[in-house]
Amino acid sequence: MKIQSVEFMGSFGYPGGLPEDQRPEVALFGRSNVGKSSLINTLIGRAGVARVSKTPGKTRAANFFTVNQRFVVVDMPGYGYAKVSKSEIERLRRLREQYLDATDRRSALVQLIDARHLPTELDVEYATRLADSGRPLCLVFTKADKVAKSSLRETVGRALARVDVPSDTGVVAFSSVTGQGKAELWAWIETQLGV
Ligand code: GTP
Ligand code: MG
Repeated sequence: MKIQSVEFMGSFGYPGGLPEDQRPEVALFGRSNVGKSSLINTLIGRAGVARVSKTPGKTRAANFFTVNQRFVVVDMPGYGYAKVSKSEIERLRRLREQYLDATDRRSALVQLIDARHLPTELDVEYATRLADSGRPLCLVFTKADKVAKSSLRETVGRALARVDVPSDTGVVAFSSVTGQGKAELWAWIETQLGV
């Protein structure tokens, strides 16, 4: 994918207010701190497009970016971050639900899972939820640079055995540090969005 332009469309934090856009979208889901914002910066090839933080829970809203004026990338707020209030957790959950329930969004979904660990209970729950939305899904095993090459395949295999997703689900091992998986993930996105 040749990136000609990236525009920040805005940050949408409250259910009811997601932007309406006719363009196809790719939306990123995953545990807080798993590397969603980093993955966006790596895909786009520019640091600082999406905010990255060592502290989990950085992205507290859905951030929308337009790429090449042709499609939209959505950085969804992460799940599984305990150090926020119950009402905040609920607000973010409703935001993700609202996005997934919308019938007028043409979107493909990417779920990030930490390659170093087995999927958490919430990861497993979300994999089912995302697959049930009926949209194309790709599981991205990120921070792959932290896993020895020799054990990566086995680690990913064990994680896949835990989630219940359709057989045509994409699977990509990814690293925002080395760029591993970048071309593969772009290929998946291009195919799904037709861009
Ligand atoms: P929230 O916004 O809190 O939901 O987090 P996020 O999923 O957007 O994670 P973010 O991209 O902010 O990254 C969290 C931390 O993980 C940062 O310290 C990143 O530098 C680090 N990180 C992200 N991707 C990778 C990766 O592929 N490899 C390694 N080694 N570190 C990574
Ligand atoms: Mg983030």
